[in-house]
Amino acid sequence: MNRRDFLYRTGAGLAWLTTPAFAMGADHRMKYLLQASEGFSNLIPDADVQTAVWQYNRQTPGPVIRIKQGETLQIPFSNNLAQPTSIHWHGLRIENRMDGVPGMTQSVIEPGTEFLYEFTPPDAGTFWYHTHNRSWEQMARGLHGVLIVDEKEPIVVDQDLVWVIDDWLIDRDGNIEESSLGNLHDWAHGGRMGNLLTVNGKSQPEYPVFKGERIRLRLINVANARIMNLRFTNDRPQVIAIDGQPINPMPLQNSALTLAPGQRMDLILDMSLNPGQRTNMEFYAGDEGMVAASLVYDPQKVVREEILDSNIRLSENPLSTELNLEKAKQVDLSIEGGAMGRLREAVFNGDKLPIRDLVKEKKIWALNGITGLPKEPLFSVNRGETAVIKMDNKNSWPHAMHIHGHHFRNSEAGNEFDAAWRDTILLNPGDQERIAFVADNPGKWLIHCHMIEHQAGGMVTWFEVV
Ligand code: C2O
Ligand code: CU
Repeated sequence: MNRRDFLYRTGAGLAWLTTPAFAMGADHRMKYLLQASEGFSNLIPDADVQTAVWQYNRQTPGPVIRIKQGETLQIPFSNNLAQPTSIHWHGLRIENRMDGVPGMTQSVIEPGTEFLYEFTPPDAGTFWYHTHNRSWEQMARGLHGVLIVDEKEPIVVDQDLVWVIDDWLIDRDGNIEESSLGNLHDWAHGGRMGNLLTVNGKSQPEYPVFKGERIRLRLINVANARIMNLRFTNDRPQVIAIDGQPINPMPLQNSALTLAPGQRMDLILDMSLNPGQRTNMEFYAGDEGMVAASLVYDPQKVVREEILDSNIRLSENPLSTELNLEKAKQVDLSIEGGAMGRLREAVFNGDKLPIRDLVKEKKIWALNGITGLPKEPLFSVNRGETAVIKMDNKNSWPHAMHIHGHHFRNSEAGNEFDAAWRDTILLNPGDQERIAFVADNPGKWLIHCHMIEHQAGGMVTWFEVV
């Protein structure tokens, strides 16, 4: 499988420039101007083709917004698109009114207007931002970027890299394939899959490294629907964070990982090969793999002969980790629908509709028999209470269930809770997972599948912390 095969058979730009939009004000407030507009990006390898995309600050992906833990971000955002939009700050446990969900936490930001986002992220880590309006179209056209919150006491590394992994559906002229945007067949199956894999908006980019360097590598899957199966050919990565939250460092099993849409992983790689060699991150499916991005060793220079032995454990974030499972609010969430899903009827906007009518509304997924955003919350909890949601994936498709404003631990049917605190979890067909979290962030929060076409097709609900 080479990149052309990937491009034409199934269905990998511009490296980000440091933007001059930063200004540090008094009282730890960081001002960052952000604007969305139409633009062009050179996505296609070896071709002089500019693809029309939608961008933040004229970059694909959007700029890396970076602050230190404890600082306040002030983001005057202007919408220069022809469509209304909004920005959601994925994984950040911030104030509800800054969460960016139209119709729930704010109104849409109309074309030609502005909205001031302002928040103080409590957690250090790797996060991202993306449109939360017509995301099935706006995200597919490129509206996403990275938000990094640096630890107050960072670990020592030689390079800190972010790899934003995406797939684009491009036609033979190099344009975004538009006829499939909104395609019901995709919505009812695995989502709209791309045919061009990119890392930081480029196909198979190469990053220079020196022997002996310690690299922190932040991986983010921003694709609308594709689950990324990735593996490293060398250098035995260690995992230090999942979905932005630190874990006890551990080796990456078989040097392979799976990132569902929305998920992140922070790795440490100690570059231990010889000058002139390379370590690839490969995307793979079954037995076949292709290079997604590479770390290329300088032909001569060696930074150090021994691997650094300094600590790679990240400092704790101020999460509420005391789960009160005995007194928890228990909620069942049945995930239904899709192709081969035998969904016969579901409640939409308060009315029970047969599947025939649901299809006309493009609502083909349901949570507990309801499709689309319900008027009433799935549940309501008092601030500080523990919530346990038992998710049951009763259909034929995988789903990446995401929760706004909170991080949770999960346990697969019958098992102990995993140590990691995630914001997005992958459920394969037939999987049952319990997720548990302390509902400590007041407001109205979404629960939805991060395979964006599933969300659009009805797989979305919400809960309230009062
Ligand atoms: Cu990253 Cu509601 O999503
Ligand atoms: Cu889904």
